[in-house]
Amino acid sequence: MSQMRGQVAFFLNGKLHQVSGSTCFLTLSDYLRRENALTGTKVVCAEGDCGACSVLKSSPVFLATPKPHFEMVNSCIALVAQMDGCVLLTVEALGELNNLHPVQKAMYESHASQCGFCTPGFVVAMVDMFESHKGACSEQEIKNHLTGNLCRCTGYQSIIEAAKSQSSDLYLHLRKKYLGKTVVETLTKFCRKALMVESQEAVLLAPCSKSELISVIKKHPKAVMIAAGTDLGVQRNKHGRRPPVLISLHLIKELYETKFLKDKVVVSARVTFSELRKSLLKKCPTVANFLDVFASPQIKNVATLVGNVANGSPIADAPPFLFALNARIKVLSSKTEKLIEIPIVDFYLDYRKLKLKTGELIWSVSFDLPSKNETLYLQKITQRKDLDISCVNVGFWSKKSSKAKLSDLRLALGGVAATPVRLQKTEKAFLKNQNLEEALKIAQSEISPLSDLRGSSAYRRLVVHNYLKDFLSKQVSL
Ligand SMILES: Cc1cc2nc3c(=O)[nH]c(=O)nc-3n(C[C@H](O)[C@H](O)[C@H](O)COP(=O)(O)OP(=O)(O)OC[C@H]3O[C@@H](n4cnc5c(N)ncnc54)[C@H](O)[C@@H]3O)c2cc1C
Ligand code: FES
Ligand code: FES
Repeated sequence: MSQMRGQVAFFLNGKLHQVSGSTCFLTLSDYLRRENALTGTKVVCAEGDCGACSVLKSSPVFLATPKPHFEMVNSCIALVAQMDGCVLLTVEALGELNNLHPVQKAMYESHASQCGFCTPGFVVAMVDMFESHKGACSEQEIKNHLTGNLCRCTGYQSIIEAAKSQSSDLYLHLRKKYLGKTVVETLTKFCRKALMVESQEAVLLAPCSKSELISVIKKHPKAVMIAAGTDLGVQRNKHGRRPPVLISLHLIKELYETKFLKDKVVVSARVTFSELRKSLLKKCPTVANFLDVFASPQIKNVATLVGNVANGSPIADAPPFLFALNARIKVLSSKTEKLIEIPIVDFYLDYRKLKLKTGELIWSVSFDLPSKNETLYLQKITQRKDLDISCVNVGFWSKKSSKAKLSDLRLALGGVAATPVRLQKTEKAFLKNQNLEEALKIAQSEISPLSDLRGSSAYRRLVVHNYLKDFLSKQVSL
C-alpha cells in the first residue's frame, strides 16, 4: 500500500480542518464544544437518543452519486475520525444573533423554547427538513422528521407550530453554499489516499480498495470494523469500550452501492438505512415503510444495514425481514482473499456470536424482492411508537401458487431467543397440513423468550401467538 495519510480532513462551518493524534478519537461533540468553542451543540444523553447534539453532515463528497448533500446526525456518538472526507455545519453556521435563520426566528416567535437546551438540536433538525424537502412541510412530515429530538420542558405543540409557520422561502440552498466545487475537489484529493491515525491507545485505519483492505486485515486480524459507529459509539460512551485497532471502510467507493438485480437487491457495507429506505420505496415498500419506525432520522442517516446484521443483537430490527426475504451474507476473508456467501439462517450461532472467523468481515447483504404472489408482513412491538428498541419483532413471508394455494413460508422473529430465529418446524408443519392450532403450539416450542425491562417472557409468547395467528389464518388455502 502506498504511504498512508496521517490526518483526518473535513470542512467545519466552511473551514478546512486537518486533525491527527488523539483528537481523532474524541467524540465529534467534544471536538466541537471543547476544541472549537462551538457550544451551540449540546450534549444531554450521549447515546443518540435526544437529538440535542444534532449537526448537519454531508454524505461522503468523493461519491459522484448520490450528489453530496447534508443530513442531520448525532455528534455525541461519532468519532472525529469518522468525519473524514465530509463537510459539517453546526447551529452556529445557520444564523447569528442579529441575523437569525428563519427557523430560529420562528422558534422564538412561537414560544417554542424554555430552558433552550434542546433548541439548537430542533433548529438543526428543522433546517435539515426544509433543505431536504426544498421548502414547507406537512404536519405529519414535521412530526416524522422530529422523532429524534426530545424536549423536556416546552412541550411539542409550539415546536410543531414553529415548523408549520414556515413557508417555502426556507430552502436556503446550504448545499450550494457549503458543498461547492472547490470543497468537493479538496476533500476528494484527501480521500484518494488511505488513512491511518493513531493515539497512545488506539489506531484507526481506512484503506481505499478491497486489496488494501485485505492487506490491512492481514496485519491486524483482530481489528474491530467500524461503520457508522452508532452501536460502537454507545458502547464507548456508556460502557467504556475502546477497541485498540479500528478499521473503517469509508474510503472504499464500491461499498456505497445498492444494486438491484432481477429479483433481488445487494446492499453493500456502507449503505445507510436512509438510503436503503429511499431505494426500496418503489421496489419493496413494505420494508421501506417498516424503516420509518427504525430509530430516528439522525441514526438512519448514518447507521448501516450491515452494521445492524453484524452487531448480532437478538432484538435488531433488520434480521427478521432479512430472514423472511431469504438474505445471504457476503463475507470477505482476508485469508483466502475471496468472497463467500452464507445464508442468514446459518449466520447467527449464539448470543452475539456470528459465523465470522478472525480476519473476516461482511462485504454486503443481499435479499429477495417479494413478487406479486408473495406476502411480506413486518411488525415491531415497542413500548413507544418512535425511537424505541423492539420488545419483539416479526418478519413473516408467504408464497402462493397460481391456484392461490400456499406453497412456501418463512416465519422469523427477534426478541424471543438469544439470536434472531426462524421457526422452521412451524413452517414445515403448517405447509404440510395447514393446521393452525398445531402450528401455534409448535411455534411456542421453538422460542425461549426472557423477561426483561421491555416485556415479560409470557407477554412475548402472547405477542408471538397473536401475530402468528393473524398471519397464518390468512394463509390457509380455500
Ligand atoms: C439512538 C439509537 C437508536 C437505535 N434504534 C435502533 C432500532 O430502532 N432498531 C435497531 O435494530 N437498531 C437500532 N439501533 C442500533 C444501531 O443503530 C443499529 O444496529 C445500526 O444498524 C448499526 O449500524 P452501524 O453502521 O452504526 O454499526 P457500527 O456501530 O459501526 O457497528 C456495529 C457492529 O458491527 C460490526 N461491523 C460493522 N461493519 C462491519 C462489517 N462490514 N463486517 C463485520 N462487522 C462489522 C462492528 O464491529 C460492531 O461490532 C439504535 C442505536 C441508537 C444509538
Ligand atoms: S446528546 Fe442526546 S443524542 Fe446526542
Ligand atoms: S426547551 Fe427545555 S428541553 Fe426543550
